[in-house]
Amino acid sequence: MISGRMLIVDDNASLRESLTAVFLAEGFLVDQAEDGGLAIEKLEEHNYDVVITDIKMPKIGGIDVLKAAKKLNPSSVVVMMTGYGTVESAVEAMKHGASDYLQKPFSIEEMQLRVVNGLKIRHYEHELTYLRGERNIIYHFDNFIGESPSIKKVFAMLKKVSRSNASILITGETGTGKELVAGAIHYSSQRSSNSFVKVNCAALHDNLLESELFGHEKGAYTGAVKQRIGRFEQAHRGTLFLDEIGDMSLNTQAKVLRVIQEKEFERLGGGRTIKVDVRILSATNKDLAQAVQDKAFREDLYFRLNVITIKIPALRERKEDIPLLANYFLKKFAGDLKKNVRHISPGALSLLKRYQWPGNVRELENCLERAVLMCEGSEIKREDLFFMEDVEPAADGEGPALKIPPSGIKLKDMEKSLVVETLKMCNWVQKDAAEMLGISKRVMNYKVKQYNLSNPRWIKNK
Ligand SMILES: Nc1ncnc2c1ncn2[C@@H]1O[C@H](COP(=O)(O)OP(=O)(O)OP(=O)(O)O)[C@@H](O)[C@H]1O
Ligand SMILES: [Mg+2]
Repeated sequence: MISGRMLIVDDNASLRESLTAVFLAEGFLVDQAEDGGLAIEKLEEHNYDVVITDIKMPKIGGIDVLKAAKKLNPSSVVVMMTGYGTVESAVEAMKHGASDYLQKPFSIEEMQLRVVNGLKIRHYEHELTYLRGERNIIYHFDNFIGESPSIKKVFAMLKKVSRSNASILITGETGTGKELVAGAIHYSSQRSSNSFVKVNCAALHDNLLESELFGHEKGAYTGAVKQRIGRFEQAHRGTLFLDEIGDMSLNTQAKVLRVIQEKEFERLGGGRTIKVDVRILSATNKDLAQAVQDKAFREDLYFRLNVITIKIPALRERKEDIPLLANYFLKKFAGDLKKNVRHISPGALSLLKRYQWPGNVRELENCLERAVLMCEGSEIKREDLFFMEDVEPAADGEGPALKIPPSGIKLKDMEKSLVVETLKMCNWVQKDAAEMLGISKRVMNYKVKQYNLSNPRWIKNK
């Protein structure tokens, strides 16, 4: 975070040189200008993160440099240097958006501190704009739950690629965690201290999406009453997440392709070319390869975005993760809703495992939230669960199916096997098996006696 491109403006060559030496050593890319006119020329050429400028200079003064810097790049950090007796101009500078000022003579360390603070504040402001109005998800691989072999593969891949700068396309059905993964990639990358900026390409149409992405100048079109910084600019040195990329129009695709290839663009209605360094992550639940074939998606853009693909498997393809995720959400919502719900009954768990989860993890999360809310005791029961679609009948391969032998079977024998198999599934806990079979504990107890069933656990527990 604490680096970037810097412009140092002062007519005093030795001060310029010593500041340059220090900030170069810190990893900044430093340009110098000896007067206000030259400074403004440089500002028009490059995008500066930091401008350090003297206030009093012959001809064009520091306030004009400040105004130009802020106009061209409102998020730049401008630190003013004032001579003795120019404190009033320093106050004026602050009004025009300077981050800070220092009175000469100052120590170099003092200047370093002001620059670092200015950049930190800018960073937090970016984050804030991003988070405002958004769900505050903490993006971290630790929050990405799963132990199934297919999810482990995804993890292994993520570990390899997140530190690189490669563009990554994340695919998967709705609710599989594409956004969560994108955020986790950013926050574990070298860009983590810079912004993670997200755009939903499906939510906005052509012009609006372009203005969102590239920004616009005041008056670029009717309604553009103020200049606006686009998401590409906000994501400078960070990561831009193009969500639902499959819904972007061909027109906008062409423009995005150019930014990715040339690393530069213009704001709508603006002539100035802005250079950016942005890592692109994108996500879609559409089949982009098919969209390319159908000529609905540009092939060249597809290859640019798709340097690496991460496909997140649907939840029904990794049912092993269901109990883990369900318990994770149980804890989370019990905490959020301040309810003393601690377990999921085996019957409820078996239902969760049987369901197909068309809405994937998001649907499971919603299901658990509702269940915790509805739950009256400390355990979630099957009646606390609500599903969007029908749950498949039991015996989808997870337990022994009741096979009817060719010679037929007596209802009584069938019932006995059903009771025994259910008890096995529930670790011989009668209460749980009763719940699963939809009978009361008393009826279960009666069946156990009727069929003369026994298990060492029952004796031990007595
Ligand atoms: N493996 C996981 N561990 C924990 N939470 C998860 C996991 N996968 C998804 N989630 C949660 O499920 C919800 C949906 O995830 P997310 O928004 O990332 O899905 P998506 O793939 O982007 O969905 P869509 O295509 O509908 O936009 C989020 O609340 C997310 O935190
Ligand atoms: Mg999403």
